Amino acid sequence: MYTEQQFQIPTLNGLTEKTIEEHKKLYAGYVKHANLINEKLASYKGDETKTYETGELYRRFSFEYNGMRNHECYFALLTGTSIDAPTLIQAINTQWGDVETFKNAFTALALTRGIGWAMLSFDKSTSTLIMHWIDEQHLGQLQGTTPIIALDMWEHSFVADYQPSGKKQYVIDFLAQMNWSAAESNYVNAQ
Ligand SMILES: [Fe+2]
Repeated sequence: MYTEQQFQIPTLNGLTEKTIEEHKKLYAGYVKHANLINEKLASYKGDETKTYETGELYRRFSFEYNGMRNHECYFALLTGTSIDAPTLIQAINTQWGDVETFKNAFTALALTRGIGWAMLSFDKSTSTLIMHWIDEQHLGQLQGTTPIIALDMWEHSFVADYQPSGKKQYVIDFLAQMNWSAAESNYVNAQ
């Protein structure tokens, strides 16, 4: 059973309270549907007359589950501006040279066409950070990696406040006011 998490998000540059509230409702929907899929699968108990339904539920589970986890990472990064992330910033400096270069690269990633997520994940097997794109909620998740930064690039996350043409500004504002200490916790815990 998954539980909806609560996030205290202060007034932000660009994103209105209404957008955040609506977005939290979408997040709650992922939690609800991840639980619902598990309940339905449990109720079918391997019933072979439900093969089609069972298969479709399994097929869509990663959409709901990753939708839930992606949003939890995203909202945690909006809980107050902080630049306190010494370990993560050191790793970023090692891989990208400096934070500005990293932000430019991440912005280019986030401007990928289509709906999905711009991600910075940690690959424990090589002790490196990887930037990658996720289509929808689940197509492009990298097995064995841990999300450090997750930026929602679905239109519901920014269009009401920024308009479609303001997509880049949404990314710039996110990076400018994100809670780096939440990303630092993700990074330290992923080691
Ligand atoms: Fe979203």
